[in-house]
Amino acid sequence: MKMYGVTKVYASGAEALRGVDLSIDKGEFVFVVGPSGAGKSTLLAMVYRGMVPTQGQVWVAGRNIVRLRWREVPLFRRRIGVVFQDFKLLPDRSVYDNVAFAMEVIEASRRDIAKRVPLALDMVGLAHKAQAMPGELAGGEQQRAAIARAIVNDPLIVIADEPTGNLDPDTSMDIMNLLCDINLRGTTVIMATHNQLVVDRLRRRVVHLEDGVVVRDELRGGYCLEA
Ligand SMILES: Nc1ncnc2c1ncn2[C@@H]1O[C@H](COP(=O)(O)OP(=O)(O)OP(=O)(O)O)[C@@H](O)[C@H]1O
Ligand SMILES: [Mg+2]
Repeated sequence: MKMYGVTKVYASGAEALRGVDLSIDKGEFVFVVGPSGAGKSTLLAMVYRGMVPTQGQVWVAGRNIVRLRWREVPLFRRRIGVVFQDFKLLPDRSVYDNVAFAMEVIEASRRDIAKRVPLALDMVGLAHKAQAMPGELAGGEQQRAAIARAIVNDPLIVIADEPTGNLDPDTSMDIMNLLCDINLRGTTVIMATHNQLVVDRLRRRVVHLEDGVVVRDELRGGYCLEA
């Protein structure tokens, strides 16, 4: 993923990003940190094309995704998994159906869905809760379900916006270990967080945003397994 001169000005006039250049290699694990309002969520949204920038380019998998036509967007999104602080599971569908839904929207075959959903649930340790409804799960389990949904289409990049924001410290570390496992399989992980403990423990690359600008970019050479 590479971005060049990315600026995002909201309709309100808020300048959430101001000329951001950023390059993230395949397989990297990158934290995006900075104070509230610094532009972290906006930056992540640029990568999964949740929004288009006001100015600049965003290159993912060999294409400037700013220029995707609307009908190309679903196919692009299939290559990016997204995880949010509040899980965003569909409350009236089982865990299994929530994960299957991510494949249904890209028109995967029923055979593929039947094969891949159990694998994704197994990967996150939720096979035994496949038929549970989200409301019957603990927060950490709901986040696991959301991660299963994010990885079921085997994405190039997993984007996680404060994935541990609603979780206690132990559960947060479980979720981090899971994201690390996913990263160790070769998937790029880009995660926004306020969780200093997690950032300190994992010793991965940290991109600091302030007021829409990258003010620091530290390569810390750690490994997930040191967590
Ligand atoms: N939909 C929106 N409409 C208008 N302004 C917005 C919108 N979303 C964000 N902003 C503004 O853009 C700036 C960056 O917001 P953003 O949500 O990216 O920050 P953040 O770093 O993710 O903050 P937090 O740590 O609180 O999640 C802020 O000034 C915010 O008020
Ligand atoms: Mg945010």
